[in-house]
Order: sequence, then structure tokens, then C-alpha cells
Amino acid sequence: MVVWTPLRFNCGREIANRFVIAPLTTDSSREDGTSPENEVEFVRRRSASGFGATISSAAYVEEGGRSWQGIGAAHDGHLSSLHRLAEAMRAAGGLAILQIYDGGRIAKPELIGEQVLRAPSAVASLRPGAKTPRAMTSDEVENLIASFREAASLARKAGFDGVEIHGANHYAVHQFFSPRANHRTDNWGGTLSKRMNFPLAVAQAVRDALGPKLIAGFRVTPFEAEADGYTVEDAKLLCDELARLNLDYISVSLDDYRLSRPTGETRVYSGPVEKVSTPAENPITAFARVIAGRSAVMASGGIKTCVDAEGAINLGADLVAVGRAVVVDPEWLAKVRSNSEASILAGLPKDELEIAKALSIPPRMVEYLLSRPGWIPRL
Ligand SMILES: Cc1cc2nc3c(=O)[nH]c(=O)nc-3n(C[C@H](O)[C@H](O)[C@H](O)COP(=O)(O)O)c2cc1C
Repeated sequence: MVVWTPLRFNCGREIANRFVIAPLTTDSSREDGTSPENEVEFVRRRSASGFGATISSAAYVEEGGRSWQGIGAAHDGHLSSLHRLAEAMRAAGGLAILQIYDGGRIAKPELIGEQVLRAPSAVASLRPGAKTPRAMTSDEVENLIASFREAASLARKAGFDGVEIHGANHYAVHQFFSPRANHRTDNWGGTLSKRMNFPLAVAQAVRDALGPKLIAGFRVTPFEAEADGYTVEDAKLLCDELARLNLDYISVSLDDYRLSRPTGETRVYSGPVEKVSTPAENPITAFARVIAGRSAVMASGGIKTCVDAEGAINLGADLVAVGRAVVVDPEWLAKVRSNSEASILAGLPKDELEIAKALSIPPRMVEYLLSRPGWIPRL
């Protein structure tokens, strides 16, 4: 089966199989953006089950863009913690990839201190209670690109095999590409081609900082479910440009890959899922055709079994990223590999202490997961 075969990235690094741990924020880092032992252990135990690669939780590149209490890749003070994390991710010899992000208008005001929320334009997110940010100056935009570059350099120094730019799920890179969030009239906004400038500049900066021999990936939301959002046709053009930059992979972020359902800005975790009008062709297939082998394609969203993974590969993906299934069962991949899928844990246990202890999930992360009923299944 394809899922167990290796793949060589453009940069020359090889991934031993097609299973990747999706980026999973634990909301459990220290205030200074370093990782306590329980956050490292969450990753170590899951990576040890044999994934070809592990992608870290998203690391902030600037203090002013923190969206949760996660890891940082903003200055040298983060280096030793990042190094420890990279070692844990390689527990079973898989590749270690650092995801980097900025929250833009969905940064959390409590986490950014005295600073004022800043974003491509002074337009509030649709999230309930969202504050209106101020528009970044062009110097700030250039500085943010430099911060992504610096974060990629830190990843290289910390021993990661590569970096993934978080260009999905409504964070700052996505906001620059979105006509809903970006109303700028300078080089960074206006036409579709100008809205691509920021994601492309970040991708180029990251590639420059990594050099040609490390993995550079980009995660994208394939279209916006919200009215007046960007379309799958827009995102295909972005993917084409990203592939020209010789990225190693492009990751298509979906909530459920079979339904082509993206993560909405006002995602509800319980109750019926909002109806979204989806493109006729699955975005994984559409993107794979545009990318045409120039970069690998990673798919995610609702992968719980080997059949699910094969299904995504059949749609055109080269790699699959697994999120919630691995949160719930740290030994998920070992069970898939040994044909013991019947023993995969289907949900989090009822008892919160048991969740933390038995599954190596930091207590703060348990709280975070349970605060959104319907997000993660419970037994
Ligand atoms: C607890 C949790 C934290 C997440 N943190 C991130 C993150 O830091 N960066 C990111 O790109 N996606 C993040 N996601 C989204 C996942 O990577 C994944 O795309 C999503 O959960 C859908 O895949 P799944 O059905 O396999 O979980 C997170 C998801 C969960 C459940």
C-alpha cells in the first residue's frame, strides 16, 4: 500500500511513510513560549508510534501575534526549548517540522500584553466578541516577513528537518490572502495578485533561511466558506505560485477531507455543522492537478483509519496528516500498522484526570479540548 512507502522531497530528505502528525496546539506552553516537560511528552509519545514526520504545534513568530499559549520561535531564548522539541519529535526516527504562524486579527488580546491587535486591515474577524484590529503599516508588514525568516533560521539552528508556514485557518498569512480581511491598497492588497504577495514573500523568506536542503511546506485553506471569501480557483493560483518557489509540500487543510469542508472562521463545535457550498471537485484533486508533482500534496481532515488515508491518497494526496485521532489515541499509528484498528480508542475517557495521565495530554490541553464540546469525541 502506498501509505507505507517512502517519498523523497524536492530538498532531498526522505520521509519513511506517508503518515504525518498534524500540527496540534496544546495551549500548554509556558508564558515565555518554551515547552514544559508535559508538552514535550505529548509529542514524544505520539511521534514514537512511527510517523514519517511530526509537525509541531504552531509557533508564534512575533509576541504581538499570539493566539494561544503556545510555543514561540521569536528569538534566541526559544532555541533550547525548540531543540528539545525537535529531539522528541524524532523519537522513532521520523522527520521534525516546525509550524510557524502569526495570529493577526485573531491574536488573543490577553496574550499580547500592551500591544494593540494588528492585522492586514482594520476589519474585525467574524468570531463573536472579536476586537477590531488596526491596519499594519508597510514597515510592520516587512518586519513580519522578516520575523518569519528569523523563525525559520531558529528552526534550522534548533535541528528541525524543515518548517511549515501556517497559511491556513484564518491566521495572518490567510488574512493577507483573503479579500474579506485584506482591504489594503498598497503592494500587499487590492487585486488577487497583490493579495498573494504576502504569502509568497513569506514562503520565499522561509526558503532563503532554510537553504535548499531542508523541507519548506505551506498549509492552506483551499477556499473560504464565508460569503465574499476567496474561492478554490483563487487558491489554485496561489498553489501554482507556491510550487514555482520549489516548496517541498503544500498541505490542504480541511475539517473533513471527504466533504471538502474547510475550517470556517466561526466554527461551531457542537450541534449541526453549518452547510457550506463546496466545489464540485475535491480541492485535494484540484490542487494536485495544478501542482503536478512540483511539490508533494498533504491532505488532512477526518482521517481515522487506514482506509481514510488511502482515500485521500486516491484523491491525489501524497501525504496525510492526522490530528484528532492521534490526540485521542497516542498509539494510533502502531495500531493501524499492525492491523489492530479495532483497538483504536474512539474518544477521550470520561474522567479528566484519566485523560491527562493515561493519554499524556497536558492538563491545560485537556481543559482546552473539553471547553469545545463536539470537537473531540468522548467515550
Ligand atoms: C487540539 C488541536 C490543536 C490544533 N492546532 C493546530 C495548529 O497549531 N496548527 C494548525 O495548522 N492546525 C491545528 N489544528 C488543526 C489540525 O491540524 C487538523 O487540521 C484538524 O484537526 C483536522 O484534522 P483531524 O480531523 O485529523 O483532526 C489543531 C487541531 C486540534 C484538534
